[in-house]
Amino acid sequence: MFSAPTIGLAAVLFAWVSQAQPFNCQITVPPNPLTAQGLATPYKMTGCNQIDFANQGSFVEAAILDPATGAIQIYNPLLINQDQATEGVDFIAPVVPTLPANAVVGIWFGSNANTITLTGSTNGCVNGLGGSVFGQFAYCNGPEWFTAAQTAISAGLLTVPPIGQATIATGQACPSVRDFRVVDMDQSDNVDTTYLLIDGKKLAQNTPANAAANKNATVLSNGSDNALINAFIAPTMGCTPFTAPSITTPGGTSPALALNELQAQQFPPNPAALVPLNDDFAVINNNGAITQSLDKTNLYRAGVGQTQAASTADASGTTYCQNYAASALFIAQNQALFSKATSPAPAVANNLFTFLANRFATSFGPVPSLGCSTIFGVNITQLVEQTTVNCIVTAAKIDTTPFQQILNGQIKPGGTATSAAGAATGTATGAATGTSTKAGGGKGKAGNAAATGTGTAATATSQATNAATGTSTAGAATGTGAGTGSKKHQHFRGLKARNMWAQAS
Ligand SMILES: *[C@@H]1O[C@H](CO)[C@@H](O)[C@H](O)[C@H]1NC(C)=O
Ligand SMILES: *[C@@H]1O[C@H](CO)[C@@H](O)[C@H](O)[C@H]1NC(C)=O
Ligand SMILES: *[C@@H]1O[C@H](CO)[C@@H](O)[C@H](O)[C@H]1NC(C)=O
Repeated sequence: MFSAPTIGLAAVLFAWVSQAQPFNCQITVPPNPLTAQGLATPYKMTGCNQIDFANQGSFVEAAILDPATGAIQIYNPLLINQDQATEGVDFIAPVVPTLPANAVVGIWFGSNANTITLTGSTNGCVNGLGGSVFGQFAYCNGPEWFTAAQTAISAGLLTVPPIGQATIATGQACPSVRDFRVVDMDQSDNVDTTYLLIDGKKLAQNTPANAAANKNATVLSNGSDNALINAFIAPTMGCTPFTAPSITTPGGTSPALALNELQAQQFPPNPAALVPLNDDFAVINNNGAITQSLDKTNLYRAGVGQTQAASTADASGTTYCQNYAASALFIAQNQALFSKATSPAPAVANNLFTFLANRFATSFGPVPSLGCSTIFGVNITQLVEQTTVNCIVTAAKIDTTPFQQILNGQIKPGGTATSAAGAATGTATGAATGTSTKAGGGKGKAGNAAATGTGTAATATSQATNAATGTSTAGAATGTGAGTGSKKHQHFRGLKARNMWAQAS
């Protein structure tokens, strides 16, 4: 279901919110991966079947920078199964790129499987922190590439086009991958690579020649966030994505993770979304015991050209979640426009609006998503009401008031000083201070969250575990959801639900 008989992103199905399959892939990086020959040598996979692409497929994307001219090209190395590696039978030999002198090459990986681990010539490659893999993401030489790109920009060699203003959704800025309006639970994890699967068995790069000679080939693609922005949101709003020449895409130019991040770096939205501590690729998951890691978060950030966080506060998931409330407002604001636009994933939702509403609700929801709803004590199911027909989202209603209040700081992630103290000592004192009393205000929906902060000692104890890591300030104090004025559409989940939030920050 993730393949398409014709070339084109619109034909590809997306599943940002679906669970990855429990496949753990080992990808062998070929010798000298940053050279022309290395780029044109197939990466080899074990533990996963590249031909079962929708469930187990992985993809590689390289950005090649000429430090003398600032020119960038995008190149998609091929990835094949290690035990199906006969050239001409199992794959078509990759085209060899022409690299300029002193070329700086960065490589990024994505996967539809659960995890990827790099082996082989992994010097300069990062797939996680120690034994804790990112999951569906890895990179080689990413930080060096972004540094070289900055040097080229500073020297006036490389000009990155501005993100600009939307011409259709007038009055709105165009989106970028670091824009809170359009991020999801794991931002900056996607590449735009496509491959061809010929006759169901032979893998090939999606070059103009291969595409022309194999019109019936299946295009293996990833429904990435980048593609969502580049191919759906941007055109709908009247925006043009940043692309560069590529000999491995039929049209001759390609967007790319590196281009998206570079553009967002040059023209950062305010505030800018950078990988937070509560990103599920940046946490350390030890058999289900989840802890946040500044080191792992920074390792991820480095690979996508993002500023290092100096402290956990700099990468706070709570701050991220507060800013992320802007996404609900953005999606609601553009409901009419997005409702008329094609769904990136017709099997998930029937148009771009319902798709985005579903994606946001899932991402804002409890761990293993970002856990924002838990932090702020809201019931995401009620704030984003979705109607499904045969499992396809056909309507959505976003209650913007609470999201506006989260954004404004009126709904807080918990009491402040009392919250931290309560958590640290493991007592329930945090519950008393509570948060905004305005949720649902004007609609008579939500009650006063602060009103019933009693009897929650057990939950406070659970929060204390988190506080012990020195990262938690969230959560302990908002009281239960059954506050005064509680009506049918109660928005607050109550403290008990916070047990799910094992990683407040
Ligand atoms: C696309 O790739 C990303 C990152 O590798 C992954 O999270 C996502 O599930 C993939 N989506 C699809 C539809 O293949
Ligand atoms: C491609 O597929 C179409 C439709 O299924 C079929 O009619 C055509 O013969 C196929 N062409 C080749 C070269 O296999
Ligand atoms: C959230 O709201 C939904 C729909 O009203 C309800 O079924 C669910 O139990 C609520 N969840 C919590 C944790 O209160």
